[in-house]
Amino acid sequence: MSLGLSIRRQNKGCETMPDIKIKNINKTYTDASGAPVEAIKDINIDIKDGEFVSIVGPSGCGKSTLLEIVAGLLEQTSGEVIVGDDTVKGTSRDIGVVFQDSALFPWKTVKKNILYGLELSKVPREEQEEKLKNYLELMNLTGFEDKYPSQLSGGMRQRAGIARTLIMDPKVTLMDEPFSAVDHLTRCTLQEELVRIHEKEKKTVLFITHDISEAVFLSDRVILLSPRPSVVQNEYKINVKHPRSRSDDYLVQITARIVADINRGAAAPENDYII
Ligand SMILES: Nc1ncnc2c1ncn2[C@@H]1O[C@H](COP(=O)(O)OP(=O)(O)O)[C@@H](O)[C@H]1O
Ligand SMILES: [Mg+2]
Repeated sequence: MSLGLSIRRQNKGCETMPDIKIKNINKTYTDASGAPVEAIKDINIDIKDGEFVSIVGPSGCGKSTLLEIVAGLLEQTSGEVIVGDDTVKGTSRDIGVVFQDSALFPWKTVKKNILYGLELSKVPREEQEEKLKNYLELMNLTGFEDKYPSQLSGGMRQRAGIARTLIMDPKVTLMDEPFSAVDHLTRCTLQEELVRIHEKEKKTVLFITHDISEAVFLSDRVILLSPRPSVVQNEYKINVKHPRSRSDDYLVQITARIVADINRGAAAPENDYII
């Protein structure tokens, strides 16, 4: 290949046991008139323990559908998702989810929001306080613990939402466009913070974004979904150590390559997607 990029097709096995195994997942919705809407089609993805994988693809291709199925929030039409040793059959403490809108409780302080899950799980008060201190530091929120969400910027609210998920110590973290609602500079900072946390904790992350440079900057591997009905169109290994430079030649080239592949369009033969 002219750019010398390392690209793998779907369904190649991983060397170690995957932490997330997405096996032959299909999802067909029914629209308002009762007609079937085939969103995703026979998707197979293995994600290794500690790997950071992003899923990209055109709007409406089924990225959120796939994430919700992996999270146990939505039932697939067929196929299976395994997280760790268990088949996903509904939401679980092993699976942490962060959405675009952190959806904090407006009547609770940052501290109470972040500790919500630990309080529900009746974790001892001392352990809660210790974890809170760690995550406030990790997310650059120290000093803001007694503020209410309305007193925070959008970026800080999103940080608090991420802290609320990570403090539960999930086996895997799923993120659906978590930085879409913040301004560009905040978004860059949050991306750098996420890289720092991932380098430190080495937890498995499945990250959804429509921003190709964001996916390339963050990930060990980027998976491109085709337009609906969505299949895995391509995979791109990003073999660049962190911290990465946004102007790194390889990253810029691979970003351009993915954009070209998206513009080239569908791999799905029965593609009925219209932009
Ligand atoms: N509840 C639903 N009923 C019918 N169609 C749906 C429903 N949810 C999503 N879809 C359709 O499935 C496709 C994939 O949606 P989604 O997963 O949200 O895409 P993405 O996150 O990639 O933008 C879209 O065409 C969308 O219109
Ligand atoms: Mg979406």
